[in-house]
Parts: sequence; C-alpha cells; structure tokens
Amino acid sequence: MYQAVRGTSDILPEEQAYWRCVEQGAIAACQLYGYQRIDSPTFEETGLFTRSVGQGTDIVEKEMYTFADKGGKKITLRPEGTASVCRAYLEHGLHNLPQPVKLYYLASIFRYERPQSGRLREHHQFGCEAIGDDDPTLDAEVIDMAWQFFRSLNLQNLSLQLNSIGCKKCRQDYLTILKYYYNGYAAEDLCRDCRDRLSRNPLRLLDCKQPSCQRIAKAAPKSFDHLCPDCDVHFNQLKAYLNMLEIPFTVNHRLVRGLDYYTRTVFEIQPAGGGAQSTLGGGGRYDDLIEELGGKPTPAIGFAVGTERIILNLKKQNISISTLPRPRVFIAYMGDEARDESIRLASRLRQAGISTIATAGSKSLKAQMRQANSLGVRYAVIVGDEEIKTGTATLRDMVNAQQKTVPIIDLPGMLK
Ligand code: HAM
Repeated sequence: MYQAVRGTSDILPEEQAYWRCVEQGAIAACQLYGYQRIDSPTFEETGLFTRSVGQGTDIVEKEMYTFADKGGKKITLRPEGTASVCRAYLEHGLHNLPQPVKLYYLASIFRYERPQSGRLREHHQFGCEAIGDDDPTLDAEVIDMAWQFFRSLNLQNLSLQLNSIGCKKCRQDYLTILKYYYNGYAAEDLCRDCRDRLSRNPLRLLDCKQPSCQRIAKAAPKSFDHLCPDCDVHFNQLKAYLNMLEIPFTVNHRLVRGLDYYTRTVFEIQPAGGGAQSTLGGGGRYDDLIEELGGKPTPAIGFAVGTERIILNLKKQNISISTLPRPRVFIAYMGDEARDESIRLASRLRQAGISTIATAGSKSLKAQMRQANSLGVRYAVIVGDEEIKTGTATLRDMVNAQQKTVPIIDLPGMLK
C-alpha cells in the first residue's frame, strides 16, 4: 500500500476546521490592513531562489526540491514565498502602482528537512509582503499585523524577537568585527558547522543551536551596536513605533534569520518555551532583493507564518475553534420506488439551498440511520414505498428524536 511521502501529510476532514480558522484569520487580517491576495506558481526557475535566498543558506544548499523538467529547464518547488512575489512584482510592472504594494499569499512550501513535529517537507505558509517603501512605520505596521493575527487566534504567551542586521554597507563592517571576535576562539571551540559558517556565512554563527557555540554567540558583538547612522535611526524609530502601539518585544542580537536577503529589521514570533522547531512566524526587510532580481532599488518588508505550527499551538493551548457547517438533511429510503423519490427529493432540497445527503446503494434502515447520526445531520427524512403512495414521508428530528409524517411536497419549505 502506498503511504504519503515522508514529511508530507494529509489534511483529513476532522482537521479542516483548524485550517479554516487559520486561513480565515489570515484573510481577515489582510482585509483589515489592506493587503491583496496574490497566488504564484508552485514551481519557479531554480535561479530565482538561489539568487534570492542565497547560495550559502541551508535552504539552497540542502533543502530545495530541484529537478530538470522534460525540456531540460532547472525547476524548483518553491522553498519560500517572497522570491516569487518579487518576481511577479517585476514581471507585471507592479512598481507602476502607488507604492507600497501590499500583497499576501497562502501557499504550500517545500523544503527537504529532517521531518519531526512542526517540521515538514511540505508545509503551508500565510505570508505578506509590502513592497516599495522603507519607512519604519511600514515595519511597525507589518509587525503589528502579524501580532494582531496571532491575537485574533487567541494564542497566548507569544514573544516577539527583534533585531536589526543593518544595510549592505554597515553589515560588512559588522561582519569584519564578528569574524575578528570568532577568530579569537580556537577551531575546536566551535562545532563543525560553525567552523564552516565562519568563512561562508558568519552571520549564521549567531543562531547555532549547539550549547557550546551558543555561549560564544551570546557574548559576540551585536549588529545593532554597529549600525550606520541611517540604520540606527531606522531601528530606533521602529522600536518607538512598536512601543507606541504597545506591542511588547525583546531585542535579540542573535536573531539573524535563515535567508540571505534580509536587511535592517528582522523579527520572529515564538511561543513560550518552544524549541528550535517552534518559531511560528518570521520576517523582515529585504531592501536589496528587487534590485538583485533586475528591478530598480525598491525597499520592502514582509513576514510569513507556518500554518501547521500554528495549529499545533492552538491544540496545545486548548483553544476552541468554530466547527464547520455539516449537511442538514439525510434522506433514507426503503424500496425501489422510494429510492427514485429520494433522488428527486434530494435534488429539490438542494435547489432550495438545503444541504442534503441521499443514501447511495442499498442498506438497511438501521444502517442508514447510523450513517445519518455519524454525519451529524439535524434532520432525517425516511421515504418508504407505502408512504409515497400517499405522497408523505417521515421527518425525524435527530436532536430530540421526535418524528412525524409530512407531505413530501412541503418538505423544502418546512426544512428551510
Ligand atoms: P521562514 O522563517 O523560513 O521565512 O518561514 C516562515 C515560517 O514557516 C516559519 O516561522 C515556520 O513557522 C514555518 N516553517 C518553515 N519551515 C517549516 C517546516 N519545514 N515545517 C513546518 N513549518 C515551517 C520565510 O519563508 C520568509 N519567506 C518569510 C518572509 C516573508 N520574509 C519576508 N517576507
């Protein structure tokens, strides 16, 4: 028997209420903040992601689902959503619209990671991108939106971690200082990954999960102490706006994010006491990405959250969510003529806008009523060969188990 591929999962009907809750919460937040939906293809040319996410990142080096299509083109299943939105922004001339352009997406994302709770090879993100302005009020608004979205789901005990990693210019100076600091340690003080990061992607030294490396990272020079004057003002203004909006945050100099396109603001939202796989969402500025992809210099900021991780936390915190609507009527029948009548009746009820399930195949009345019960319908209509001679059927209220004989012709009106 086939099974779902490792790291992927089916979303069964019993899980759908959670998904609907998160997706509707996302859509409601986007409407509130004036974001418009964009859907991009599931796969793109590989170069788009290597260029955007960055050559030295885990995503590009180890995690992308890349293949040559039948025409020999190198294709990658999207490992994140921002690069595709930026490509679409350029391809469709969205820079001609009033800026910033505010877009959101709900999309499946593919990363070849080691599967575990909260870490899948196919996961789903709700993401937002505000492209075309570098005003720190926009950073504050994007963070506010993420924060309000989580509040609307009633999730408790979340923390907002914030950092500024500076712009292209001041980051270079900071990286020199950071490397100088790490060069003060012997190679064996660092884990193998960190020895590698020191030469290839020194910023990532700061978020190593190894306890011995964490101690070193904790005392490392902080990017926000080495910002150029413009980045410093930007970061201070952002913090002032967040205070004004009463959004609590912790400045965390070790927050650097796993994608290379970030500049200045970076942030993550984490649940209390969560481990490495717990971050619910993250984002930041990517002021150079559009230019990197061939456009004019265009500052931008965005974030994405992981639906599966949010659902894990909704369950962990026992947050009750609305159930999905169930079918209202079940039609059971006994006899050949009654079967034809049940098909006609089901069609009339549906045309009247009443969601109806009609029995398929031949089952005993008992089995049919069991099915009606398990579907959670409010009413069952029982049609029998004898009754239809008089144009009637039995209408049973499944909640109080009362039933009565009614004219079939009246059923659409009565059930409505
Ligand atoms: P990211 O931090 O890589 O950012 O992913 C966003 C969120 O997706 C994470 O915080 C996490 O909740 C979820 N996530 C990531 N990987 C997995 C996985 N393997 N299994 C389950 N959930 C996962 C981005 O992708 C950026 N594009 C966000 C962004 C938008 N930055 C600016 N704009």
